[in-house]
Amino acid sequence: MSNLSRLLKESWTLVEEQQDKLASYFYARMFLDNPQLRDLFPVQMDVQRSRLLGAIVTAIQSVDDPDRFGEYLESLGRDHRKFHVQPEHYDVICRALMDALRTFAGDQWTLEFDQAWRDAYAAIAARMMRGAEADSANPPYWHAEVVHHERRSRDIAVMTVKPMQPLEYRAGQYVSVESRYQPRLWRMYSVANAPRTDGSLDFHVRAVGAGWVSSALVRRVQVGDMVRLGAPMGSMILDRRSTRDVVCVAGGTGLAPIKALIEEMTRANRTRWVHVFFGARDRDDLYDLACLNRLAARYPWLSVVAATTDDPDFPGEHGNVSEIVARYGPWHDHDFFVSGSPVMVRTTLRTLAELQVPAIRIKYDVFSDS
Ligand SMILES: Cc1cc2nc3c(=O)[nH]c(=O)nc-3n(C[C@H](O)[C@H](O)[C@H](O)COP(=O)(O)OP(=O)(O)OC[C@H]3O[C@@H](n4cnc5c(N)ncnc54)[C@H](O)[C@@H]3O)c2cc1C
Ligand code: HEM
Repeated sequence: MSNLSRLLKESWTLVEEQQDKLASYFYARMFLDNPQLRDLFPVQMDVQRSRLLGAIVTAIQSVDDPDRFGEYLESLGRDHRKFHVQPEHYDVICRALMDALRTFAGDQWTLEFDQAWRDAYAAIAARMMRGAEADSANPPYWHAEVVHHERRSRDIAVMTVKPMQPLEYRAGQYVSVESRYQPRLWRMYSVANAPRTDGSLDFHVRAVGAGWVSSALVRRVQVGDMVRLGAPMGSMILDRRSTRDVVCVAGGTGLAPIKALIEEMTRANRTRWVHVFFGARDRDDLYDLACLNRLAARYPWLSVVAATTDDPDFPGEHGNVSEIVARYGPWHDHDFFVSGSPVMVRTTLRTLAELQVPAIRIKYDVFSDS
């Protein structure tokens, strides 16, 4: 661990237990300093669950060397154009953050800690601003019309939207989506198709618990509605130079980016075997299995294995998808793509480590905000 990283972690322990109060103070300070900034944030703002402060702290804490995360930070900066963030806002947030940290850490806060946080924040902010600046040819967000919306299960919908302006992305990437039902609340959703000539994008959305955006996208959005989309992000894309066979592991709507990758391979692949493992609670949640099976019938290089955890009569595999993957191995020389809930991804990564799959061959997306 570098000295910077040690200082950041050590100083965070001073305030960690007061995170909720620190968050309230941070936002109050920020909005007092710059009242116009309030308009950038969601209307019904639950400070404790707001994403910004948590995201900054996570970024700062996990960034030993900001250069390593350069690409992600640049795309985050590009994505922040949808919030109308301007370069001068970075200073406002830095001041509010530093003030909150000093206030809650009290006497134990040192000049060294102060410098460490300011240095880490400055490095991250610089990369984000660079990303935003380099993207000025694109709009800050895209308006798109919902042209198809279909409920596939109790809580899953598949929808297609058509952006008004071209939105360039790679299969496997995600974009943030905002609907008119929850203004200024944006959530990430993976695009479920490879780029098409008509520019339309599919999304597979699962309504989670009391989730604001996902329930609106599943239960309220209709054909003809407009949504807004942020800039594409994510690096779970196909390495076109690789000749290794491919294993895709998807849990629930984690299938979305995997479907996009498979579609991309239907256009170019002649030589790589592709094994897809699709897991869900029950057959209802295997909402796109019929389509996957049709693709497998058409492309001899593609095989699909479906598994459920809570559906004893399901005519397929039973158990966690990661256990099924292990059973079908060995996978000594494959590229892996893993996507789904935090638990599903974590379990699969652990299994792959046990199977001695080198981490460098695994790309994954976790459907979580943290
Ligand atoms: C890179 C990325 C790609 C994603 N792609 C997709 C996708 O293609 N399809 C898709 O359906 N989702 C996807 N997600 C998840 C999505 O961004 C939202 O987090 C999710 O839809 C919940 O948003 P919400 O506003 O409805 O819930 P919130 O209002 O943010 O949360 C409501 C409550 O539900 C809890 N909660 C949040 N997520 C879950 C969950 N998964 N299971 C159980 N409880 C939860 C929260 O802790 C909170 O208590 C992706 C996330 C990321 C980071
Ligand atoms: C170090 C700098 C920053 C980092 C690491 C960062 C990171 C993030 C991340 C990861 C999210 C959640 C993802 C998303 O919704 O797109 C987010 C949300 C947000 N950020 Fe930033 N951000 C930074 C600076 C800024 C600045 C300068 C502003 C301008 C005021 C800003 C405004 C917002 C807003 C409005 C949200 C949505 C909040 C919500 O939905 O609750 N961010 N930020």
